[in-house]
Amino acid sequence: MTKALSPSDRAKAAAAKRSVAFVEDGMKLGLGTGSTAALMVRALADLARSEGLTLTCVATSSRTADQARQEGLKVVTLDEAGRLDLTIDGADEFDADFSLIKGGGGAHLQEKIVAAASERMIVITDASKEVKTLGAFPLPVEVIGFGWTTTQTQIEELLAGMDVMGTGISRRMAGETPFRTDEGNFILDLALGRIGNARALSQALNQIPGVVENGLFLGLCDTIVIGHSDGRVETRDLNAGTVHEENVLFEESSNIFREL
Ligand code: A5P
Repeated sequence: MTKALSPSDRAKAAAAKRSVAFVEDGMKLGLGTGSTAALMVRALADLARSEGLTLTCVATSSRTADQARQEGLKVVTLDEAGRLDLTIDGADEFDADFSLIKGGGGAHLQEKIVAAASERMIVITDASKEVKTLGAFPLPVEVIGFGWTTTQTQIEELLAGMDVMGTGISRRMAGETPFRTDEGNFILDLALGRIGNARALSQALNQIPGVVENGLFLGLCDTIVIGHSDGRVETRDLNAGTVHEENVLFEESSNIFREL
């Protein structure tokens, strides 16, 4: 069954469909998490079926693992796969340096481990997520449940001395109960508004004992594929310094949208 598509759905689908053209037979792939990554997993499974590709996939969340297996993809653990050829994932914000904020879906810990284990990371996104300076999207920070209020206080004290605009912190909820990550941890969302020095902030946050990982992805992404609702796709390559534009065609009834 297909539902009416929003411009955002179409843009995400265009990016997702374009990104799987980077996949080659025999690759070990990291699969991201989120609505854009879910479209990519669907497009990847379609491609693998139609081209007869043999792929080995590592998922960045239990949600993505479940979806990938349902689509017929082979999913193994990162420890079984070892080094990966390519990871394709979404993002919540990106800037001109290909620095990212991720973790809106609460999966940034596994996403960062998988991206760091990959030769190449491609981010798929719509144009609305491009920013001049990171920080409008609240920065997710995964923290251990033990002593989490003490960890929050230490983050507040840290932020007072950092180059950020806001300092509000809220623990993420899932309805009436605190959101739990796949590892059973909490997420603190930091409403920073603007992050002046992302590298300094990332390093300082990760030195606080109760912090597991923050959602800043710095120096990990090589390529950004930006979809538009009319099917145009822009591919920016950081290392080559190139920008390519093309059109991705798909029908609204395409398999990529089935039950998504
Ligand atoms: C998951 O934890 C996130 O990092 C997602 O990749 C990010 O939030 C993008 O999600 P959407 O594709 O749903 O916007």
